[in-house]
Amino acid sequence: MTTRRDHYCGGPGCGLGAMLAAGLRAPSLLPSWLQTRGGQVIPTNSGRTAIALIAQIFELASGDEVLVPSYNCGTEIDAIISTGATPVPYRITRELSIDEADIELRITSRTRAVYVTHYFGRCHDLDNLAALCRQRGVKLIEDCAISLFSGLRSCDDKMQADAAIFSFPKWFAVPDGGALVLKDDHQGVETMLKPPSLPRVVRQCLPLLKSAALRGRVSGRILKRSGRNRKYDDATSLQVPAPSRPDMPQHYYFDHHVHLHRMSRITRGLLNRVQTGRLIETRQHNWEQLRVGISDIPAIQPLFNTLGEDECPLVLPLMVNNRNRWLSELHTRRINAIGWWAGYYRDLSWDEFPESCALKDQVLALPVHQELGEFEIEHIVRSICEIAYFCEEAPANANRLVDVKPLVSEFPQSQRMSVRS
Ligand SMILES: Cc1ncc(COP(=O)(O)O)c(C=O)c1O
Repeated sequence: MTTRRDHYCGGPGCGLGAMLAAGLRAPSLLPSWLQTRGGQVIPTNSGRTAIALIAQIFELASGDEVLVPSYNCGTEIDAIISTGATPVPYRITRELSIDEADIELRITSRTRAVYVTHYFGRCHDLDNLAALCRQRGVKLIEDCAISLFSGLRSCDDKMQADAAIFSFPKWFAVPDGGALVLKDDHQGVETMLKPPSLPRVVRQCLPLLKSAALRGRVSGRILKRSGRNRKYDDATSLQVPAPSRPDMPQHYYFDHHVHLHRMSRITRGLLNRVQTGRLIETRQHNWEQLRVGISDIPAIQPLFNTLGEDECPLVLPLMVNNRNRWLSELHTRRINAIGWWAGYYRDLSWDEFPESCALKDQVLALPVHQELGEFEIEHIVRSICEIAYFCEEAPANANRLVDVKPLVSEFPQSQRMSVRS
């Protein structure tokens, strides 16, 4: 019999009933865990909307420069460019630290803002940078899209940056949602946004409903019968060798029609039901279980090995060779691993930043979210052990070839780890 214990390690899901109830009882304010950052909070439909808004509020325009981290997603870069400003990358080290000396060198009379991204739940110490920005008359913007709950306690004081942006669908089962938090109050900011687009919100609900269903009993059986999860298949079905610096996916680019909207009622309602304490604890626990479980495998190196008490992980990021091969194998096992920020924003000077290129090519993110339990984490650990056995022996150019056959059948029966089903 197919049960909930079906090894489904996809993203968080949400049922239809919960969505409708949340939409009907949506409060007008965002929950207090965001307000604790001490600024004016403006709900938006995405992180990109928050970036475009801040660019309008700070009146960035053609000829202005914004210093951006060389290790970036690309979505944030295009949102900045949409204002006419020019992004100028500064160095991020292989350990994900900001090279402050490089920032200082790159500030010119055209620099209007420094954009900082907190990576994977680890907050940079902004003391020096905030002082430098104040001294040079430059705005400081922090991107907390992938570090939502980290450093909350230390944010009880007034924010150091002039603005912070957030993105919620990376953390919870919500169809849309982001926020802009401004250090100083600005009047009429919400009126700069259009109301939510209902057809778009409905479309964005569908993957959440599917995820909730896949985690349930009956649909698990349907999934097995109907084959696989199309999302995973799409991610691994390219037939052609990838170019050495492929463009980022099309939907990462900024689109004024899609992005300049307010947050949907469904998301407002769902955010107010989040139990932050339990969520943070579960993510930290899953992260640690996973890290310990795979710590003896030489083929993979976690980007960092410790998590501060005040840090909430989004994923467990690893460096691997042959990343596409790993992805193909993990997806076959229904594990929603991500080739993190694969794809390059086309107009940046990537040759200057080999460490960031290595991160772009090699970081693999494993899920640790709040809907995964011991059983799923154990499944991920066993899968990693299995895959490592083969990936270490894979040809060096395997990373370029995305269409890779599953390896599990090649694994000698005698050496295969027992995976509960
Ligand atoms: C670091 C970072 N900032 C901003 C964004 C934009 O967030 P959203 O997808 O909500 O527009 C992303 C999206 O992946 C991101 O990774």
